[in-house]
Amino acid sequence: MTQTKDTLIQPKEQFSLTAHVKNLEEYQRLYRKSLDQPEAFWGEMAQQLTWFHKPDTILDVDADQVDFSWFGGGKLNVAFNCVDRHAKTRPGKPAIIWAKNEPGEYQVITYRDLQHHVGRVANVLKAHGVRKGDRVCIYLPMVPELAYTMLACARIGAVHSVVFAGFSSEALRERILDSGAKVLVTANEGPRGPKFVATKAIADEAVEGLTQVESILVVRRTSKEVPMRMDRDYWLDVEMSKHRGTCPAEWMDAEDPLFILYTSGSTGKPKGVLHTTGGYLVYAATTFRYIFDIQPDDVHFCAADLGWVTGHSYILYGPLATGTTTVMFESTPTYPDAGRLWQVVDDLKATILYTAPTALRALIKEGDGWVKKSSRKSLRLLGSVGEPINPEVWRWYHDVPGEGRCPIVDTWWQTETGGILIAPLPGATPTKPGSATLPFFGVEPVLVDDEGRVIEGNGVTGNLCLARSWPGQARTLYGHHQRFVETYYSRFPRLYFTGDGCRRDEDGYYWITGRVDDVLNVSGHRLGTAEVESALVAHESVAEAAVVGFPHDLKGTGVCAFVTMKPDYQDASPEQMVGALKEQVRHVIGPIATPDRVVLVNGLPKTRSGKILRRMLRKIASGETENLGDATTLADPAVLDELLAKGTPTQ
Ligand code: WTA
Repeated sequence: MTQTKDTLIQPKEQFSLTAHVKNLEEYQRLYRKSLDQPEAFWGEMAQQLTWFHKPDTILDVDADQVDFSWFGGGKLNVAFNCVDRHAKTRPGKPAIIWAKNEPGEYQVITYRDLQHHVGRVANVLKAHGVRKGDRVCIYLPMVPELAYTMLACARIGAVHSVVFAGFSSEALRERILDSGAKVLVTANEGPRGPKFVATKAIADEAVEGLTQVESILVVRRTSKEVPMRMDRDYWLDVEMSKHRGTCPAEWMDAEDPLFILYTSGSTGKPKGVLHTTGGYLVYAATTFRYIFDIQPDDVHFCAADLGWVTGHSYILYGPLATGTTTVMFESTPTYPDAGRLWQVVDDLKATILYTAPTALRALIKEGDGWVKKSSRKSLRLLGSVGEPINPEVWRWYHDVPGEGRCPIVDTWWQTETGGILIAPLPGATPTKPGSATLPFFGVEPVLVDDEGRVIEGNGVTGNLCLARSWPGQARTLYGHHQRFVETYYSRFPRLYFTGDGCRRDEDGYYWITGRVDDVLNVSGHRLGTAEVESALVAHESVAEAAVVGFPHDLKGTGVCAFVTMKPDYQDASPEQMVGALKEQVRHVIGPIATPDRVVLVNGLPKTRSGKILRRMLRKIASGETENLGDATTLADPAVLDELLAKGTPTQ
């Protein structure tokens, strides 16, 4: 399936006139410079921030220790850069527009308002004993207080750890314990589409019996009453009313931690990816400015949740560092109907929409009518993130919502990369539907075969690695540097291994083919198969579980669990068991991890040494049963008939 030059879609002429980078030659020149003179390039980019003290060095790498330091000696404050400096020059400009769950309900928060709220929350945190370097866990739905609290942490030098409000109490507890947070911020409850998430009740369960968490600050999102424990639980609005909005910004070292964000890996425990202050902010701001081609009047609508890295970098930090107006969307793309995103675009005159292929696939299914009844005149750019975008979906995005006039930026990156690494520049890069195109400035992708040999040239496929550091790269896994080294730098020494497979086509364009490790990308969210397996095995009825992904029309990848039961449960009703096991995963991890299929079997396919042949299960779950591989490697070939009978998809 080689893509040829004819599939190239040229940048829109009108767009290129005003773009920061106007053509491919200019991109190539800047890209060259970023690789040949990285210090000069990033030194210049760092100047868009306000530094209390300018960096003395740009990059310092200790490759043996896998230690990267950017902008050494530099002192800055992220909240000062994202809020104060704009509050001074454009106080009345909307910083955040909050689109509430119910359609038509909006709240505008100007840069001046934002400064005030952030300062107050910062003072509340201090009053609750939070000091520089302390961790604060945030378990909030998409309410403005989520942004205030993140920025308040940055202001006083505390490290935030935002946990997506769809995670279960067990998942939250694990993250609170790992980060050692002593303050937790949550809400009484959170509306999301037609439902309400009982965030406070989940938080209560998560901290049950923990003395580590000294204070729980509770946002009053609705009028719902929730139990408040004396001397531990405090309403945030009451606490804020005790404090003024002025709070001095801590002078942070460029390498001081800014936040921890947990993500799934190929082993059971989630990883606390740590990002630092200077490099992260320079990278978030630079990628945001160039890849979304930010202009002064942009209204940026990223429909993600702040609980994921996309939200951190492209709802909060990138937009605010550049003084842009950003939208926080509390609802879902299909509430109350499939026209919701376009309604928000029209109501707020959004100029950019940034969302995930999984949302687009759900909308395509509902028909073009929902799109066409909106104007979308304000839109000038469309972005995609989180998973490979199918070429058909790309074309639909381009032709229907974008009416052929908006460039599409397909942005490839990861929680660990802090910001986008591969994406077109909308005024400069010709695009191909389904390809994230070319590397961003300073990024050097390398394809490597399974033996670690670098694959040169074009028209090749391999494991996607990165050959040099970029400012936004994660520095470590919180408290587990050795695990950081092993996870990212041991498979291919001296190269950062992304876990993704990738093709570089004849034109040097990159096509991400998906994860090559045991991580599934379900609706744009990362899920470790090992995590789901641990959740299943924790159920009293389960003997063994093996989890694999299979192609899913809406989610991209669906979750299929093959499970063997303990003897006492062999006679239980299969329907009930399947229901109970789905509920178990929901309960242990959260709704996003709920298996689409649970297949109860008498035996799993294992080698004689006891290794589960996941590749075989993956093929069965995907219905690719012609070429299952060599069944003679199975310790018990008899299991195969049952697996095929029960595991092959029915439609
Ligand atoms: C996948 C989300 C193809 C990829 C920002 C990566 C993508 C994982 C794309 C990271 C894209 C993300 N095209 N695949 N444009 N963007 N991915 O950490 O497999 O939640 O490794 O970060 O998502 O997911 P994460």
